[in-house]
Amino acid sequence: MKGVLLSGGTGSRLRPITHTGPKQLVPVANKPVIEYAIEDLEAAGITEIGVVLGHKGREEIQELLGDGSKYGVDITYIVQGNPVGLAHAVGCAREFVDDSDFVVYLGDNMLRHGVSDLLESFKTGDYGAGIALQEVSNPEAFGVADVDEQGTVTRLVEKPDDPPSNLALIGMYVFSPTVFDVIDRLEPSWRGELEITDAIQLLLDDGHAIDSHVVTGWWKDTGKPEDILEANRLVLGDKDLKMIGVIEEGAETDGRIELAESAVIEDGAVVRGPVSIAENTTIKSGTYVGPYTSIGANSTLEGIHIENSVVIGGSEITANGRIVDSLLGRNANVESADELLPEGRRLVVGENSQLKL
Ligand code: G1P
Repeated sequence: MKGVLLSGGTGSRLRPITHTGPKQLVPVANKPVIEYAIEDLEAAGITEIGVVLGHKGREEIQELLGDGSKYGVDITYIVQGNPVGLAHAVGCAREFVDDSDFVVYLGDNMLRHGVSDLLESFKTGDYGAGIALQEVSNPEAFGVADVDEQGTVTRLVEKPDDPPSNLALIGMYVFSPTVFDVIDRLEPSWRGELEITDAIQLLLDDGHAIDSHVVTGWWKDTGKPEDILEANRLVLGDKDLKMIGVIEEGAETDGRIELAESAVIEDGAVVRGPVSIAENTTIKSGTYVGPYTSIGANSTLEGIHIENSVVIGGSEITANGRIVDSLLGRNANVESADELLPEGRRLVVGENSQLKL
């Protein structure tokens, strides 16, 4: 079984963070989202992975993943070029896939339990595709499946106004190579894209059975800033966090903290986990880093009170104030202004931004 990891798309819902980089490289608990997908595929025994690249951030993704050897996998890069839909991206992998069944993993999705269960379920029958589902409160934002009482998938529809169920399609699929024939016949949807959901509906129309598997454990489509914060909370809540860096005497720490080798929590700083602090980052005296926060590499925090936030890295945050529920892009700096502003500002700050609070 091969794996196809889709890492195209424009990341429009994550702007301004994605003005200068692809959404799949946004870090969650100080690790780029796409690395979680590679690790899930590897854990399911899938070591031949085709990574489909769009226009955005091609070089950065290749630079990070390389030939895959550091993850124990073998990566082949496939260029999609124009982002004209997930089914088009899958279609670009035809040569790579050849005649094997394959898993498709959307590079901006994160799953607590990975892809192994979906694969096992698919292997138990003769299916054209296998889909993973989870109940959501806003099915109109996703692909939705209608499943009858016997568990048979009867219909699929992309972002319906009137959802037939609350079962959303999670961003991982298993396909037999038959899917390439239906992709050739797809017409663009209302959003001008060739939809993977429509391809699976065509498989159904052609008489193929579709396996469905309801996923237990959390799932996150990291398309929006609040999703990144939630994924960060979920991962920090679960992850085994290692404290390797320096905690000076007089620093107050509590709960689970991941502290990279060259990171320092100085005398007079307070850190309450779960928190992740990456390499070469210093938490100075008078700073409070509260639960569910990840601070990226090469950052300095001094005097700020920050919690439930993600700082991507390279930031100087020296304001006296509170930052909550915020996502700060690479090299974003925050410093104090003279006048006092209300506490607890919520920020989504793009790369290289300068803020005066
Ligand atoms: C895509 C799929 C949708 C699926 C979702 C999962 O949506 O089209 O069917 O439910 O991923 O994350 P998009 O992120 O393109 O809006």
